[in-house]
Amino acid sequence: MDKKETMKAVICTKYGLPEVLKIQVVDKPIPKDNEILIKIVATAVNSGDVRVRGLKVEGFMKIIMRLVLGFSKPRKSILGTVYSGIVESKGNKVSTFKEGDKVFGMTGFDFGTYAEYIAVKENGNVAYMPENANFEEAVSLIFGGQTAIYFLEKSKISEKLEPKVLIIGATGSVGSAATQMAKYYGSDVTVVCSSEGKFLVESLGVSKIILYDKEDFSKQNRKFDFIFDAVGKTSKKQCEKLLAKGGIYKTVGGLEYASESQKQLVLIKELYEKGKLKAIIDKTFSFDKVVDAHKYVDTGRKKGNVILKINE
Ligand SMILES: NC(=O)c1ccc[n+]([C@@H]2O[C@H](COP(=O)([O-])OP(=O)(O)OC[C@H]3O[C@@H](n4cnc5c(N)ncnc54)[C@H](OP(=O)(O)O)[C@@H]3O)[C@@H](O)[C@H]2O)c1
Repeated sequence: MDKKETMKAVICTKYGLPEVLKIQVVDKPIPKDNEILIKIVATAVNSGDVRVRGLKVEGFMKIIMRLVLGFSKPRKSILGTVYSGIVESKGNKVSTFKEGDKVFGMTGFDFGTYAEYIAVKENGNVAYMPENANFEEAVSLIFGGQTAIYFLEKSKISEKLEPKVLIIGATGSVGSAATQMAKYYGSDVTVVCSSEGKFLVESLGVSKIILYDKEDFSKQNRKFDFIFDAVGKTSKKQCEKLLAKGGIYKTVGGLEYASESQKQLVLIKELYEKGKLKAIIDKTFSFDKVVDAHKYVDTGRKKGNVILKINE
C-alpha cells in the first residue's frame, strides 16, 4: 500500500485565545476528478477567522455558531478562507486549470486555507491570479474585495450617476476594498475612519474624510444615496437622517451575509491589473507565527489585510 502523503496545517484545537492554534501534520488532500490541488503560498488572517477561533459573537448567536461550526471546537479544524498559490496537480475531469497555474480564491465556510495544500473544485470560487500581483498581494484582495462587491452590487450604485456614498470604517479589509470599489463605480465617496487611518484613505484618493475620534459623523448635514457600514458599528436608525430620498443603508454587522462567486474574483483580477484596485497589506507573518498574527487581528485595528505566508 502507498504511504499517505502529509502536510503541515494550523489546527484550531478548541475555541479560545490565539494559543489554541497549533501547527500539526495531517494528510495531504488528494484532488477528486473535478478538483485541483493547490500548493498554497499565502493566506490571510481575517476578522472572520478570529471571530470563529474565539467564538466571538453575542448572546444566542453563540449557540447558533456552535451548532453550525461545531460544539467545543470547529468541526472543520483547519481555519482560513482565502488563498493564493500554484496548481500542483488536477483531477481527470479538470479542463480549465493546469499544473503550474497561479490561482487565488476563497473557500468560505469550507475553511481549510491555513495549510500547505488544499483541493478545490475547478468551477468553485477560484480564478487565475492578477498577472501583475505577487502571492501576498493577490490574497489580500479577496476577503474584503468579495464582501465589498457583494454589498455594493446589492445597493445598485453602479446604476446611478455619481452616487453619494458614505463608507463607515474605511480602513479595514472590507472598508478599504469598498472605498476603492465605490470610486470605481464613479461614486462621490466620503469615509469615516480614525485619525490613525487618515493616511491610508488619503492614499486611496479620498479627500472627504470624517475622523470619528474628532467628530460625530451622524451630525453631518450632507445626504447620501448609499451608506455602507463596513465595520458593523452603527445601526440604520443612527444613519437614517443622513440618507437621501430612496437611499440605502447596508451593514456587515447584521444578519446579511455576503456570498462569493468566481465572477467577483474575475472582476477583482481585472481591476487590479488596470490599477483600479490596490493591495492593502498591513503586516505579513510567517506560517509559524500564526498565533501572533491572530493576536494582531484580534485588536480590531488592523489596516487593510494581514497575510500569513505558508510556502516561500
Ligand atoms: N456580513 C458579512 O458577510 C461579512 C463579511 C465580511 C466581514 N464581515 C464583518 O465585517 C467586519 C469588518 O471586517 P474587516 O475584515 O474589514 O475587519 P478589520 O479589517 O478587522 O477592520 C478593522 C478596521 O476597522 C477600523 N475601525 C474600528 N472601529 C471603527 C469605528 N468605530 N469606526 C470606523 N472604523 C473603525 C479599524 O481602524 P481604527 O481602529 O483605527 O479605527 C480597522 O482599520 C467584521 O466584523 C466582520 O466580521 C461581515
